[in-house]
Amino acid sequence: MKRVDDFRLHFGKQELVPIMIGGMGVDISTADLALEAARLGGIGHISDAMVKTVTDRRFNTKYVKEKLKQYKFNVANSDKSVVQFDLGQLEEATKLHVGKTMERKRGPGMVFVNCMEKLTMNAPKETLRVRLRAALDAGVDGITLAAGLHLGSFGLIEDHPRFRDAKLGIIVSSLRALQLFLRKSARTSRLPDYVVVEGPLAGGHLGFGMDWAKYDLALIVAEIRDWLVAEKIDIPLVPAGGIFTGSDAAAFLEMGAAAVQVATRFTVTAECGLPDAVKQHYFKASEEEIVVNQISPTGYPMRMLTSSPAIGSGIRPNCEAYGYLLDSSGNCSYIDAYNKQIALHPGERRVSVMEKTCMCTHMRNFDL
Ligand SMILES: Cc1cc2nc3c(=O)[nH]c(=O)nc-3n(C[C@H](O)[C@H](O)[C@H](O)COP(=O)(O)O)c2cc1C
Repeated sequence: MKRVDDFRLHFGKQELVPIMIGGMGVDISTADLALEAARLGGIGHISDAMVKTVTDRRFNTKYVKEKLKQYKFNVANSDKSVVQFDLGQLEEATKLHVGKTMERKRGPGMVFVNCMEKLTMNAPKETLRVRLRAALDAGVDGITLAAGLHLGSFGLIEDHPRFRDAKLGIIVSSLRALQLFLRKSARTSRLPDYVVVEGPLAGGHLGFGMDWAKYDLALIVAEIRDWLVAEKIDIPLVPAGGIFTGSDAAAFLEMGAAAVQVATRFTVTAECGLPDAVKQHYFKASEEEIVVNQISPTGYPMRMLTSSPAIGSGIRPNCEAYGYLLDSSGNCSYIDAYNKQIALHPGERRVSVMEKTCMCTHMRNFDL
């Protein structure tokens, strides 16, 4: 059998180690982790999820404190529509996070940023435009469009000077999602440089319903590969989800994948942003402790550990400080789930909310 090192990912004339470390939000896939992947000739991802929180931690900025101060008057209000992100500050924070990372890059690999459409931030289109353009301005090697269909995302950056030079890719979980993206982006006369095909065993959110277990990554990759060949479209495919060993990876490379994306495997590295105690939970966890549930306010099922403190936590929504999942009308399904429990248990100091979780707070605290 062949080994991973018998293969290379080709971007034009550039040759890379065919391993991408997947983006893991709120600084789990840190700059250090991404830079180490790049130093060794592969591809690493940082993520722009909750970027203001991340820059506060990395560079001692005060974005979160300032936002909370500005909107403190609204904390007890369940209507969060007034809680808007300052687009100038969003641009500044993104440039800081991405730019400072790129300054430190050494070696032949690349550093990409993972950009999730589901971070709707109370103004989906405006905030996504700023995030994408600021990352390109700050010199990122590439952008992986994630958590969403991104039907308008190429349109948001098609007039950017780096639109055709930066590597742009998308994560899909089905041929249909890829076909939709290609159809909607055709107008920009630009194909994605790579497509990450994420299967049902991926860590974090899943691009499937609760029937995820019916699907098989290798079958989805083969279906997409065969369709691309039939349509004479050449786009490198990067399977992801449940790839753990060199043999797992080599099997996908042998069936025609250009590279593999791996994430969970790297959560226990020294460079990963998780606190050591959480890394130990990952080490100790057995398969029986892995659960796929529906507590994410994004609406996607999510794979997590049953010991996650986020499950059942009934903390007050923290949208004035964070608010990354507020939709275009200022709603998040955690607010509704929380208010329902408050109404059912009047006067109680602590409630338990099983239906949804406060994703922003718990991701920020590394307990989800
Ligand atoms: C802790 C964790 C956080 C993740 N966060 C994100 C994210 O912010 N954006 C994203 O597109 N994918 C995210 N993922 C998915 C990974 O990028 C990757 O595609 C997936 O985990 C691959 O499966 P594997 O973990 O079995 O290797 C996350 C995965 C994990 C384990």
